[in-house]
Amino acid sequence: RVPVAALLQRPADAIVRPEAAAHSKIPLPGDLYAPERRNSRGVEFGARLGLDRLLTDVKAETAGLGPIADATAEQANAAVTAARAGFASWSRTPATTRAAALEQAAHLLESRGARFIALLQAEGGKTLDDALSELREAVDFCRYYAAQGRKLFGVDAAMPGPTGESNTLAMRGRGVFVAISPWNFPLAIFLGQVTAALMAGNSVVAKPAEQTPRIAREAVALLHEAGIPKDALHLVAGDGRIGAALTAHADIAGVVFTGSTEVARSINRTLAAKDGPIVPLIAETGGINAMIADATALPEQVADDVVTSAFRSAGQRCSALRLLFVQEDVADRMIEMIAGAARELRIGDPCDVATHVGPVIDMEAKQRLEAHIARMTREARLHFAGHAPQGCFVAPHIFELKDAGQLTEEVFGPILHVVRYRAESLERVLATIERTGYGLTLGIHSRIDDTIEAIIDRLQIGNIYVNRNMIGAVVGVQPFGGNGLSGTGPKAGGPHYLARFATEQTVTINT
Ligand code: NAD
Ligand code: ALA
Repeated sequence: RVPVAALLQRPADAIVRPEAAAHSKIPLPGDLYAPERRNSRGVEFGARLGLDRLLTDVKAETAGLGPIADATAEQANAAVTAARAGFASWSRTPATTRAAALEQAAHLLESRGARFIALLQAEGGKTLDDALSELREAVDFCRYYAAQGRKLFGVDAAMPGPTGESNTLAMRGRGVFVAISPWNFPLAIFLGQVTAALMAGNSVVAKPAEQTPRIAREAVALLHEAGIPKDALHLVAGDGRIGAALTAHADIAGVVFTGSTEVARSINRTLAAKDGPIVPLIAETGGINAMIADATALPEQVADDVVTSAFRSAGQRCSALRLLFVQEDVADRMIEMIAGAARELRIGDPCDVATHVGPVIDMEAKQRLEAHIARMTREARLHFAGHAPQGCFVAPHIFELKDAGQLTEEVFGPILHVVRYRAESLERVLATIERTGYGLTLGIHSRIDDTIEAIIDRLQIGNIYVNRNMIGAVVGVQPFGGNGLSGTGPKAGGPHYLARFATEQTVTINT
């Protein structure tokens, strides 16, 4: 086992071999906000870059290093203590300097794009499309939070006041923020949380998912190199037990968490049970996300968008489609077309540029998904089952349920559940969606404006997508996050996010 401290001291560049380094100066596609064009360009990109070779290097290097050691509870405590000391100077660092460090991080990420893409593939099992989109999202978070931070934290706001009195409102960091992230966006969500907390003037102890610590380690090294002081940002590797120890620490001032609803609840209980200051929790969790397709929808478009939403990224997105409601009149045709489109998906090696669906994250996830498939095979009607190669793969499946109530929890993989509904029972569909208690994403496919407006008006869902797929929210364009069991808000990549990491101070001076 290699001690965390030793790995952290190793500069990120040191593990890139000379021949791989030759590929690392990659310009990324120019326009940030053209997600639909990312895919084909991503594939061309990978082929041109010779990512296979870089990936082989990354695999060899990561195998040589062995696993990253988990921190002990003492090391986690020490990280909080050090971050508390680091807060004193970081919180006084001008917002423009903090923003400049994030912009430098964005620049470094772009210039080392191939390295991060290869890491995302080697450690996260990401397809090239997914890795490229994730890298873009990470870069966007850095730049967007820097821009927002300059506005919010740059100058204290002058408030109105009677003659002879001046009133100002300042926003400041809270203290030590603990940032706990999931494995499914090991770069973008990890960096999104950390950069937001830092931009607001907090120091940070970051605990990445136990499945993806290496990407986090390189991201932290890159932030240090970009100008974030070492005492303001600490990485603590480990599983949920280390996360629990960090959230229970007496000296933390906030927690930002992305992951399952169950763990968010447990963190909430821990924070509520603590003595001392009240510690805020920003939680972004899962969902049983639905799509409604009525008889006026364009079947080809529905098929394409359903397959993208349910099966891309092997269904391992919190935004992914789980429950499709199709109007009875068109259901047979639509299900047949969706199954036809799913049949075209290529499942396998994520490093092969032609692959659409890569592996699931680990064997535990595979076993959980296979158990669900076995239950659905007994209890529902199977419309489609793809073929997965040997290894950590789960093939896309489509099941038709008699009742949406058969799906009681988030199933985090490429399994689509379909339910038919009659036009006159749309209200019952909406009540069913509401009853899940989640509110993350929703898809609507319809050409009737009144139907679309009524659904949007009725459901408290964080991100609603009309006549398109429902994944891949773009930073600064589709602020992302849910309600109810799906999270506390505010939305990542949105204009109100940074404020939740800060505390406000009003100063009134009798002049
Ligand atoms: P998870 O909840 O199992 O783990 C997330 C993180 O929490 C990991 O770092 C883990 O080590 C840590 N953790 C586990 N137990 C803990 C505890 N008791 N105290 C503190 N930390 C603890 O989730 P996962 O399997 O890594 O990720 C998948 C889940 O994340 C899905 O439910 C998905 O919907 C959700 N997710 C949500 C969003 C969003 O933006 N809403 C984005 C991505 C993923
Ligand atoms: N933000 C990610 C998406 O929209 C989870 O798919």
